[in-house]
Amino acid sequence: MKLEGKVAVITGASRGIGLAIAEAFEREGAKLILTAKKNLDSLGRFKNAKTIPLDLSSNQSISLFLEEAVKVFGKIDILVNNAGIFKQTDFEAISAQELDDFLDVDFKGPFLLTQKIFIQMKKQKYGKIINIASGAGKMGSSKAIHYACAKAALISLTKSLARIGGQYNISVNAVAPGYIETDMIKDILLEKKAMIEGSIPLGRIGQDRNVAGPVLFFASADSDYITGQTLCVDGGHCMI
Ligand SMILES: NC(=O)c1ccc[n+]([C@@H]2O[C@H](COP(=O)([O-])OP(=O)(O)OC[C@H]3O[C@@H](n4cnc5c(N)ncnc54)[C@H](OP(=O)(O)O)[C@@H]3O)[C@@H](O)[C@H]2O)c1
Repeated sequence: MKLEGKVAVITGASRGIGLAIAEAFEREGAKLILTAKKNLDSLGRFKNAKTIPLDLSSNQSISLFLEEAVKVFGKIDILVNNAGIFKQTDFEAISAQELDDFLDVDFKGPFLLTQKIFIQMKKQKYGKIINIASGAGKMGSSKAIHYACAKAALISLTKSLARIGGQYNISVNAVAPGYIETDMIKDILLEKKAMIEGSIPLGRIGQDRNVAGPVLFFASADSDYITGQTLCVDGGHCMI
C-alpha cells in the first residue's frame, strides 16, 4: 500500500473531490485527519480517521484545528489543501466583503494552515503538501475573477514553498482540476453541460475520482523527485 504508516490531513473531505481523496488514501493505508466546515457526519464511516471541524475563514478555527491535529497521531506527513468555495459574480459586482471571503477561504486559510504544518514537517524532515488549485488560477476566468486570483495565489504558494521545502525533504505540488462533477459546479452544469463538454478535448466532465488519482501520486513515493509543479486534471481543457 502506497501510504502505509503515513498520516494525512485532508481539508474539505465531506463531499466531492475531498471525499474521493480520503477514500483513495484510506485504500492505500493512510491514517486520516479529515475536516469539513459543517457536514462532519458524512465522515463517520472512515476507520483509522479523526474528524475535526475547520472553517478556513476563521483564524480561531484554524488555530483550534492545528492544536488538535498535531496531537492525534503525533505527526503529519501529508497535507492536502482541498477545501474551497466558488461562485460566479460579475467583476464589477464583487464587493470588498465577497473578495475577502474568497481570499480567506481559497488562499489565506490554506496559507496559514500550511505555515504551521510546514514547521511540523521540517522537524520530521519529511512532508508532502498538495494544493488543490484550479484551471482558473492558470488561465484566468471571466466569470469568477476573485476565485481565479485566489487560486493563482495558491499556485504561487506552491512554487515558493517548494523552493524552501526541498532542503527539508518536503515537496509541494498542486493539482488544477477543470470541470469536475460536484456540488460546486452543479448549477453551471445544469445550464451548460453540453457546451462545456464541447470545449474539452476528452469530451466529458471529470469525476471526483479522476482528481483523487493524481493527488495520490503526489502524496506517494512515486512522485519523490517532483516539486513545485501544477498538474492540470481537466481532460485537456487547459494546455498551459
Ligand atoms: N468541482 C470543480 O469543478 C472544481 C474545479 C476546479 C477546482 N476545484 C477545487 O477543488 C476543491 C474541492 O472542490 P469540490 O468541487 O469538491 O467542492 P465541494 O463539493 O463544494 O466541497 C467543498 C468542501 O469544502 C468545505 N468547505 C467549504 N467552505 C469551507 C470553509 N469556509 N472552511 C473549510 N472548509 C470549507 C466543505 O465543507 P462542508 O461540506 O462542511 O460545507 C466541503 O467539504 C476546491 O478547492 C475547488 O476550488 C473544483
